[in-house]
Amino acid sequence: MKKLHIVGNWKMSLNKQDSIDLANKIKSISKKEYLNIEVAPTSLYVDHIVKILEESDVNVISQNFDYENLGSYTGGVCLDQLKEIGITKTILGHSERRSKFNESDDQVNKKLETVLNSELDVIFCFDSYEQVPFELIKNNLKNNDNLKLILAYEPTWAIGTGETASIDHIEEIHTKVKNTLTECSLENIPILYGGSVNPSNSREILSSANVDGVLVGGASTKFDQLLGIVNSI
Ligand code: 13P
Repeated sequence: MKKLHIVGNWKMSLNKQDSIDLANKIKSISKKEYLNIEVAPTSLYVDHIVKILEESDVNVISQNFDYENLGSYTGGVCLDQLKEIGITKTILGHSERRSKFNESDDQVNKKLETVLNSELDVIFCFDSYEQVPFELIKNNLKNNDNLKLILAYEPTWAIGTGETASIDHIEEIHTKVKNTLTECSLENIPILYGGSVNPSNSREILSSANVDGVLVGGASTKFDQLLGIVNSI
């Protein structure tokens, strides 16, 4: 069975105590050989959640980053700081960062270049085929054998709406992206789907061609639903 990724993006949905309670429950999830499970807490609590999940089979990742190195960037969080607290991977380019925090494609792509040349791995979100910077990836991804880069297709209209994309639609986009990756000799890059994934639809989505995992928002903030997704395969 191919390796599948289940990534929970907690966004800014949970306060401190709820994040701690959820992490304490998540500790009990044990890894299946073919599964990689990760959660991305609000940056304010990442350090705390890393410590809770330290000995567990669930990896803690970041939702975003601003710059590579320490410097005068008020309100920012840099890759060096994330690395210092044990983070090895970050999400980048989520549509909410693009639409609600005005991160332009240019800014997101510049950050992609930065992280691809850093020690951290990255999950790059896109909401259309056109948003994937294939050329930049090709020029900056030095070694694709270690899951340095994962792509995540998240159609904006499916995020938090309960309207999951149809399997046909997911397969169409994933196959189109995979074909171009293959032309660039980058066929090992996994592609996740995100948008209203829940325990009722996760099995079908995760069984689809060219789907290597799911990026889950709302359902990942409720332990029973996250566990339901993990157990659906
Ligand atoms: P929902 O699962 O709540 O639709 O959110 C998806 C998402 O944005 C994950 O990054």
